[in-house]
Amino acid sequence: MQVRKAVIPVAGWGTRSLPATKNIPKEMLPIFRKPIVQYIVEEAIGAGLSDVVFVTNQNKKIIEDHFDRNFLLEQVLERGSKTELLKEVREVAEMVDIISVRQKRQLGLGHAVLCAKEVCKNEPFAVMLGDDLMFGKNSGISELLEAAETEGKAAVGVIEVPEDRVHRYGIISGEEFAPGVYHVDKLVEKPKKEDAPSNLAITGRYVLLPQIFDILETQEAGVGGEIQLTDALQGLADQGKLIAVKMQGQRFDAGDWVEYLTANIYFALHDEELHDDLVKRIQEILPCKD
Ligand code: G1P
Repeated sequence: MQVRKAVIPVAGWGTRSLPATKNIPKEMLPIFRKPIVQYIVEEAIGAGLSDVVFVTNQNKKIIEDHFDRNFLLEQVLERGSKTELLKEVREVAEMVDIISVRQKRQLGLGHAVLCAKEVCKNEPFAVMLGDDLMFGKNSGISELLEAAETEGKAAVGVIEVPEDRVHRYGIISGEEFAPGVYHVDKLVEKPKKEDAPSNLAITGRYVLLPQIFDILETQEAGVGGEIQLTDALQGLADQGKLIAVKMQGQRFDAGDWVEYLTANIYFALHDEELHDDLVKRIQEILPCKD
């Protein structure tokens, strides 16, 4: 099984990040020096995926523009001999060719994935959600691709979460057949803690088989009145075609302010030039009670 396409749904409202996202797509909020979506695209490319499919809407054009040339800006940088910046700006435009499909109604994540049907056709494909940022060597979608390709099955990335957070996620249960790898038997989207089948939460990384489109086509709305990808995945699990893989890398939920800010600091701390000044300034503003 060879996976080439990464489907990245970017049509959501970003309500958790309002008012910052009133007119800016949440995927364009910066984490240190790059917009969130660039990290996701770089993760996809790093994992060997060659095609990026954005499921987008009419308010999200600037996401596609970010991966295109900006000749005026390039001219300005060229004239100012800002060679390094010019190189970086061009690299973003050249890193990938984007295919866009429109999600004309916001009916949920399952519906967003269904919008990519005509582009993915009969191929297995990856789905990567912009809210989940994953870092660390070989972390993120590459961990799933390896397991999915070995098993010839669909795969979801999972992490352990505390009991009081299960209601924020899709939760799976299954049998662990290799360290950190499970045959999934049950999935529940955003369960109450008493209904959660485990504490293994789906992170925003999936490798899916094209059969998922047939299931999604008739999938009824679930939690929140939305067509849930998690509910459709139960169809693959019932056929014994879904595994879950415990993700190893560092993860940040970009839709949560504490996590978003921590991700910014994490990256800035990895920048040699900034590190010492940043640590000094943080120490100066702590403790900050007012
Ligand atoms: C989506 C999925 C959920 C998953 C989560 C991970 O939910 O539906 O199963 O656990 O992403 O971030 P959302 O956060 O879009 O409500």
